[in-house]
Amino acid sequence: MHGTIFTLLKRYVQTQYDHSTWVKLLEVSGLESGDFDHKQVYPDEHMYALVGGAARMTGIPAEELQEKFGEYLVPDLLYMYGKLLQPEWRTLEMIEHTETVMHKRVREEHQENAPPVLHVSRMAANEVLIEYVSKRRMGALAVGIVRGLAVYFDEAEQIVVEPTTREDGQHVQIRVRRLS
Ligand code: HEM
Repeated sequence: MHGTIFTLLKRYVQTQYDHSTWVKLLEVSGLESGDFDHKQVYPDEHMYALVGGAARMTGIPAEELQEKFGEYLVPDLLYMYGKLLQPEWRTLEMIEHTETVMHKRVREEHQENAPPVLHVSRMAANEVLIEYVSKRRMGALAVGIVRGLAVYFDEAEQIVVEPTTREDGQHVQIRVRRLS
């Protein structure tokens, strides 16, 4: 997985908790190094180990941790890929264009990059249905990213995010509605 995600996870733990928590997390997860370069790609297993280690350390379920982390990721991801954003996009439009614009660019950058496939259908003017497909089973991170987008676009009060399947499968469905 993309080094940026690891770098941001490290910063998340260091700012939400502290540096010693990060060092302990590396130890609990069995990782030798916590130095990540945002231009490198690291084994997915390291991410699973960190998420699992964090769940054991805090007693917070892995899915809840991934959701929180997903929310945290959004401003940085949008900062990095901000040139691709269209000014008229809000939360639902951003979701509709993630696959063909954002994740497409991520795939082009490095052949080892493999963001999840997102099939997005516009069900109504105020509703989209996301079908997340990834062997990484990180649907909870997807739910968090959607919540983070709603905050980013100043729509947190109006956007309702509702997974309609389990979040830990290879196929996860997420319904996103905007209340008018
Ligand atoms: C809005 C702009 C977005 C950007 C710039 C972005 C970028 C990225 C990048 C760089 C990765 C790492 C890929 C890799 O390591 O191979 C990634 C992974 C991921 N993205 Fe996005 N993403 C965006 C939106 C979304 C949205 C809207 C969702 C969900 C609805 C989403 C769900 C995920 C998930 C769950 C992963 C983790 C890998 C996996 O599950 O297979 N992303 N994204």
